[in-house]
Amino acid sequence: MIGSLLGEGAYGEVRKGLWKKKVCAIKTIKSSKHSYFNGINETKILQALQGDPYIIKYFGIIEDVEKFQFALELYPSSLSQFLRTNQRISMVLIKRILSQILSGLKFAHKKQIYHGDLAPRNILINTEKIAISDWGSADTFRLESEKGKQFCKKQDLVEVGKIFLELLSLSHYVIPWDNQKITQWLQKLLGERRLTRLGEGFDLLRRLINPDDYSIVNVEDALNHPWLLSP
Ligand SMILES: Nc1ncnc2c1ncn2[C@@H]1O[C@H](COP(=O)(O)OP(=O)(O)OP(=O)(O)O)[C@@H](O)[C@H]1O
Ligand SMILES: [Mg+2]
Repeated sequence: MIGSLLGEGAYGEVRKGLWKKKVCAIKTIKSSKHSYFNGINETKILQALQGDPYIIKYFGIIEDVEKFQFALELYPSSLSQFLRTNQRISMVLIKRILSQILSGLKFAHKKQIYHGDLAPRNILINTEKIAISDWGSADTFRLESEKGKQFCKKQDLVEVGKIFLELLSLSHYVIPWDNQKITQWLQKLLGERRLTRLGEGFDLLRRLINPDDYSIVNVEDALNHPWLLSP
């Protein structure tokens, strides 16, 4: 039904609406001193990122004097809602979801934009594919030093690693802050049944999730990992 609430976050409220007579999702930036700035930032980034199948389609701003609103392609659910209703998901689906997230991220990083808030609630999903959404925390790293650029890219990849854990239903584990402990912790986790099923995928998870591991900084390297390439 038009007007029904699809979801809510710290910055916005998303409802079903109409864009040129077609059903869409309308995000209203919650009013605050910075709402206009936040809205402009998110819509500018969205505009710059159009054209990739794994990035949410942006239709345009809805003129309103009081609120900052814009229209997006409607999806049936977010990945967090999907995971709540689908307790068991196959390894094939986990691979497909991860590959698609990485593919969308590759497009953004190529345009020198990092997402800054990748999480299941900010990934949308339908029966065919996912779309990376909520670009409200995104920024460009064009002017960063080489080291800064690597840091921004790695930040997004760590979050992909955490999504990987959620897809394996292992998100109840608290990831250690001490980076040296992460390797030990992952080693211990290997005993978990879900991780023994993972095979080579464990190597990808290990590289992604450790903020100190810079062996995969370019998204292409993750996409070319043998585990993702194998059927
Ligand atoms: N295009 C869409 N189609 C369907 N549901 C959507 C769409 N966009 C957002 N949602 C739902 O609304 C929720 C909030 O949207 P969004 O993440 O953009 O808001 P936010 O306030 O910026 O969130 P955050 O707290 O993560 O910063 C999402 O988690 C999702 O469940
Ligand atoms: Mg969000």
